[in-house]
Amino acid sequence: MRALVTGAGGQLGSELHRVLAEAGDDVAAASRDRLDVTSRDQVLGVVLGLRPDVVYHCAAWTDVDGCEADPDRALLVNALASRHVTEACRLAGSHLVAISTDYVFAGTATRPYVEWDQPDPRSAYGRSKLAGEREVAAGCLGAAIVRTSWLCGAAGPNMARTVLRLAADPRRDLAFVDDQVGNPTFTSDLAPLLRRLGVARLPGTFHATNQGPTSWHGFAREVLAAAGHDPGRVRAVATADLVPPRPAPRPAYSVLDGAALRGLGIDPLPDFRDPLARLVKELTHG
Ligand SMILES: NC(=O)c1ccc[n+]([C@@H]2O[C@H](COP(=O)([O-])OP(=O)(O)OC[C@H]3O[C@@H](n4cnc5c(N)ncnc54)[C@H](OP(=O)(O)O)[C@@H]3O)[C@@H](O)[C@H]2O)c1
Repeated sequence: MRALVTGAGGQLGSELHRVLAEAGDDVAAASRDRLDVTSRDQVLGVVLGLRPDVVYHCAAWTDVDGCEADPDRALLVNALASRHVTEACRLAGSHLVAISTDYVFAGTATRPYVEWDQPDPRSAYGRSKLAGEREVAAGCLGAAIVRTSWLCGAAGPNMARTVLRLAADPRRDLAFVDDQVGNPTFTSDLAPLLRRLGVARLPGTFHATNQGPTSWHGFAREVLAAAGHDPGRVRAVATADLVPPRPAPRPAYSVLDGAALRGLGIDPLPDFRDPLARLVKELTHG
């Protein structure tokens, strides 16, 4: 398989690069300095030059509060760039696997969201990612859109790393919100599933997360427990009590149900505590 990964310098892109290379794929890892996905010329040049079997589109502007402050830039990076990648894949005959997010949903549901539920993003980030999904769906018949949530991996900043860093100071007050619930998902599990979807050229929208919905407070407790610290150190706070308040609204409940994968007989990713334990070991023991 010849594969191209956009955003290959990021948390998911770097793990995917590793997984694809280990599987024997001929993989071009395009980080932002090699391929700026907002440049239509660059995207067409790289994709039509390589003509990969599969393009894994991981590049995105993922700073949720940054997007809220600059929605135009969010649309440029997360929506218009997806148009370019989609066009290039259509012209090159490449299968496209585009990554999206639980933040396309409002978060007001009382049961997990399935792929066919109506998106209703409440943040500029979520709106820009949904616009990107629409570019992919409209522009490249047969493309896959994979929504995931609360990503953690060895590369890049994420909540697991943040909790570990804060917990290293025993005097540090550890307070996390208990009124935002989602599925922590680990790149070490997600990346092989993305490859599987890419190789099979499966079309349509998929929800792919680790199992075990929890709040950020619950997740922080699990991180501490995995690292051998006292989970009781973590205090629960409400989103409304955060000082200062976060600029972008987050969904209160964005648990994704992988109904499409299940229907195709593809096993769900395991409970998040398994990959969490591996990641904590890797981060704390080198
Ligand atoms: N992180 C999460 O919790 C989460 C949850 C659900 C879904 N997702 C989705 O999962 C995907 C991967 O996220 P991630 O956690 O790996 O994010 P990440 O670590 O921020 O990686 C995104 C990568 O895209 C790059 N990028 C930004 N603008 C670009 C541009 N114009 N051209 C090329 N590359 C550009 C970034 O480079 P710079 O660092 O140089 O800006 C970064 O390396 C994204 O689609 C994201 O929306 C993430």
